[in-house]
Amino acid sequence: MKTVLITGASSGYGRAIARHFHSQGWNVIATTRTRPAGVLPESGRLRVVELDVTEPETIVAAFEAAGSVDVLVNNAGVPSIGVFEGTPMARVREVFETNTFGVMATTQAVLPQFRERGSGVVVNVTSSVVLGHMPLSAVYKASKMAVEGFSASLALELAPFGVQVKVVEPGACLTTNFAARATNGGPVDELVPEPYAPWAKSVMHDFASQDLYTKESDVAETVWRAVHDTTGLLRFPAGADAVRLAQAK
Ligand SMILES: NC(=O)c1ccc[n+]([C@@H]2O[C@H](COP(=O)([O-])OP(=O)(O)OC[C@H]3O[C@@H](n4cnc5c(N)ncnc54)[C@H](OP(=O)(O)O)[C@@H]3O)[C@@H](O)[C@H]2O)c1
Repeated sequence: MKTVLITGASSGYGRAIARHFHSQGWNVIATTRTRPAGVLPESGRLRVVELDVTEPETIVAAFEAAGSVDVLVNNAGVPSIGVFEGTPMARVREVFETNTFGVMATTQAVLPQFRERGSGVVVNVTSSVVLGHMPLSAVYKASKMAVEGFSASLALELAPFGVQVKVVEPGACLTTNFAARATNGGPVDELVPEPYAPWAKSVMHDFASQDLYTKESDVAETVWRAVHDTTGLLRFPAGADAVRLAQAK
C-alpha cells in the first residue's frame, strides 16, 4: 500500500487531498502545524502528524514518524495580498519561509529515501497566480514562481533516479481559509494605501467578480492525476479558472 505525506492538511486543499488519497486506499500522513480536533478523523490508514515547514526539527520528526513515503505533497502555504510598497520586509521573508523555503526543506528531507529506492513523486502546490497577470500579489507570486523554477530544474536532476517532480497550480477558491487569511478577515480595501486606492479598487472588484473558481475537489483530483501521470508533464493547472488561464497563456 502506498503512502502520501501532505503538508498543511488542517484545512482547505490539503485536507481535501488527504481525504481523496485516503478514499483511494492509500496510507495518508496528514501533517499539520497544530492538531485541530476532528477535521481529519484518524484511522488505520490516516495519521495526523505535527509538521511546521518553517521548523526544521518538526520536519525531521515527521519524516521519522512517517517511515517509508511514496509521495510528498507540498501544499502548506500562506497568502500575501496588497501593494508591495507597503509590505514590510519581515512579512516578505515570512511568506518565503513558508511558501518557498518550506517546500525546499521538506523536499530535501524526503529525497534520500526516494533516490535510494529509485521511485517517488514530489508534488508542489503553487498557484494560478503564476499563469496570469495579477497585481497586488507581487510577494506571493514571487514565492510561488520560485517554486515553479525550483521544480522545473529539480525534475531534470531527479529523473535519472526515477524520481518525479510535479507542480499543481490551483485557481482561486471560496471555501478554503485562504482568502480570509489574506485579508486578516477585514475588508480588502484596508490593504491598499491611499495613492493606490482608486486603481486597486477596480482590480479588487474584477477579482471578486470573476466567473470561474476552483473547488477543493478539483485540486485533490489534480494532485491524484499528477501523481499517476506517465507522460513526463510538469505543470497541472487545477480548477476551471486556472485551466482557462493556462489555455490563454
Ligand atoms: N485558496 C486559494 O485561492 C488558493 C489559490 C491558489 C493556490 N493556493 C495554494 O494552495 C495551498 C493551500 O491553500 P488553501 O487554499 O487550502 O488555504 P488554507 O485553508 O489557508 O490552508 C493552508 C494550509 O497551510 C498550512 N500552513 C500555513 N503555514 C504553515 C507552516 N509554516 N507549516 C505547515 N503548515 C502551514 C495551514 O495550517 P494552519 O491551519 O496551521 O495555519 C493550512 O493547513 C497553499 O499553498 C496556497 O498558496 C490557494
